[in-house]
Amino acid sequence: MMPRYPMEPIRTMPKTNIILTGFMGTGKSTLGRLLAQELDYRFVDTDQLLEAELGQTIADFFAQAGEVAFRKKEEELVLALTHQRKLVIATGGGLILNPVNAKALAQTGQIFCLTATAEEILERISNQQHIRPLLQDQNPLAKIHQLLEQRAASYQQFTQISTSGRTQKDLIAELLQQFTRTA
Ligand code: S3P
Repeated sequence: MMPRYPMEPIRTMPKTNIILTGFMGTGKSTLGRLLAQELDYRFVDTDQLLEAELGQTIADFFAQAGEVAFRKKEEELVLALTHQRKLVIATGGGLILNPVNAKALAQTGQIFCLTATAEEILERISNQQHIRPLLQDQNPLAKIHQLLEQRAASYQQFTQISTSGRTQKDLIAELLQQFTRTA
């Protein structure tokens, strides 16, 4: 039987979300939190949501269950998020490489891809607490270059925002301008 009050189809909901994606250490969470404040939106960070759901760190989950299992968890989370609006979503760096996730998120809002040089990425992540399992390598800079190259075609599908040598204020202003212009 058809429900009396069917849920609105996702496609017809307004595309009011902002999705910040891009490589590890490009500032997605930091900028996302600030952007959400500016817009009076809710901020969500997919890594944080997954850690809460899994009850363990992403590094531990990677070690125990592996990357494939992690990517499956990411996909499940994205599908749940597609029903919500007025969100600023900071994604884990690999989430958008899955075309299912990219398509689903694009239906909810606008996707921006933050970029930085490999050297800056290394410096930023070296100053952060949480462990990136994919960069646990003898030569993390070479690993960053390798992953950036592998991911370039996927990341380039989205509006690029270079974070190199720029202030947070400047970046927020650009994101707000681009969002209102195209939303
Ligand atoms: C990953 C990025 C991480 C996290 C996981 C895998 C990736 O998130 O999801 O370690 O594949 O790029 P951040 O981009 O927030 O570091």
